Amino acid sequence: MTEKEIKIEEPRGKLGVLLVGLGAVATTVVAGAELVRNGFAKPIGSLTQMGTIRLGKRTDDRVPKIKEFVPLAEIKDLVFAAWDIFPDNAYEAAMKAGVLQSVDLDKVRRQLEGLQPLKAVFSRDYVKRLDGPNVKQGKNKMDLAEQLMQDIAEFKKANTLDRMVMVWCASTEVYQSPDPVYERLDVFEKAMKENHPAIAPSMIYAYAALQSGVPFANGAPNVTADIPAMSELASKNNMPISGKDFKSGQTFLKTLIAPGLKAKQLGVSGWFSTNILGNRDGEVLDEPGSFKSKEVTKLSALEYIFQPELNPDLYSDVYHKVRINYYPPRGDNKESWDNIDIFGWLGYPMQIKVNFLCRDSILAAPIVLDLALFMDLAQRSGMKGIQEWLSFYYKSPMTAPGLYPEHDVFIQLMKLKNTLRYLRGEDLITHLGLEYYD
Ligand SMILES: NC(=O)c1ccc[n+]([C@@H]2O[C@H](COP(=O)([O-])OP(=O)(O)OC[C@H]3O[C@@H](n4cnc5c(N)ncnc54)[C@H](O)[C@@H]3O)[C@@H](O)[C@H]2O)c1
Repeated sequence: MTEKEIKIEEPRGKLGVLLVGLGAVATTVVAGAELVRNGFAKPIGSLTQMGTIRLGKRTDDRVPKIKEFVPLAEIKDLVFAAWDIFPDNAYEAAMKAGVLQSVDLDKVRRQLEGLQPLKAVFSRDYVKRLDGPNVKQGKNKMDLAEQLMQDIAEFKKANTLDRMVMVWCASTEVYQSPDPVYERLDVFEKAMKENHPAIAPSMIYAYAALQSGVPFANGAPNVTADIPAMSELASKNNMPISGKDFKSGQTFLKTLIAPGLKAKQLGVSGWFSTNILGNRDGEVLDEPGSFKSKEVTKLSALEYIFQPELNPDLYSDVYHKVRINYYPPRGDNKESWDNIDIFGWLGYPMQIKVNFLCRDSILAAPIVLDLALFMDLAQRSGMKGIQEWLSFYYKSPMTAPGLYPEHDVFIQLMKLKNTLRYLRGEDLITHLGLEYYD
């Protein structure tokens, strides 16, 4: 250990991964982890598994794999648990989600059938398009949180786990505007006991996680962990939190292209993004309240990248529109179109068209894996509260109050890697490079 190095607990034993929701994304993660650990497939798309990190000077030739540089849990040491409103086991749920083919799922069928979802905390007030029978009953929202804590404790005991992380992979809840009960932890807890309508099921899970010593990562656009009461709880219990909304397909491409246009000082007058999506997520997002949550996270990236207040000639009048249409024939295979109206030298207009035929859950699954491993690393490294270095994975990254989020995917990656270098006491890479020309 160098003088500058941060003390990181070793990842001994197994890591419990608690998934809220056992739908398309979650089953693709679990099946993927089983396929990878049994040698049937490679973890393509996962930075923790495939990525490398340069250390020192470009002439030093030190480029280890990230997983060899920082002590991460190994895929073989992951144990999964999940909650869902439907009682289907992970094999049945994966077959229904239709992301992976049965030829792949059958290779790990036994393991998937062994993952039976626990009863969920759910309310149709928050996800209007769904209803299912596998739901907890409780006398109030605090009682429901206690039942979740009981589930977590039993899972921990049954698998003799020291460490767990929770990742929200459940449906998008309706948009929630700020409410006074979110402002302080004691007020929030009182409101839970009084069954206050502003407390969403996702908040009950996050509360249960943080009270149980489990870091919480939020893959959907719900405000869940963004509220002051949750930050207060995370900091009181020394827990890392991160979110929100996995950056997987269209927004990922947006945050690749937009920084490039800005780097070349090209103007943008309009950006129209539309999607067709036929999975359950698409069905939920077809409802205006849930779409509003998604729209907010999908719209925010461009504004922050373009900084119109600093670049008024280029970006003060960008017409930005995002649409998602539910179209069942495509299932999980989303198709997105972006039309970008740009202008260059002397204001002359040009256009860019992007047509991305992606697979939503194939892009999201490695994000869940990486977040589980990095959130566990954060906890073992004593990092508490908002983990801004994980912005790379999110459409709408959480930040400290008063800080604007960083959306440029390359800056996000640099921030992530510099955080890893910092943890290991390595020099941060600034890309100045003058030393090569002395
Ligand atoms: N796939 C992607 O690329 C991507 C990207 C960003 C965000 N997301 C978000 O990730 C989430 C999961 O996406 P998906 O495609 O797997 O959706 P999905 O509909 O296939 O799965 C969600 C599951 O959550 C369950 N659920 C709903 N409310 C619940 C609750 N309160 N407790 C427990 N389970 C509950 C549903 O029954 C369903 O099985 C969605 O919110 C989606 O918006 C996905």
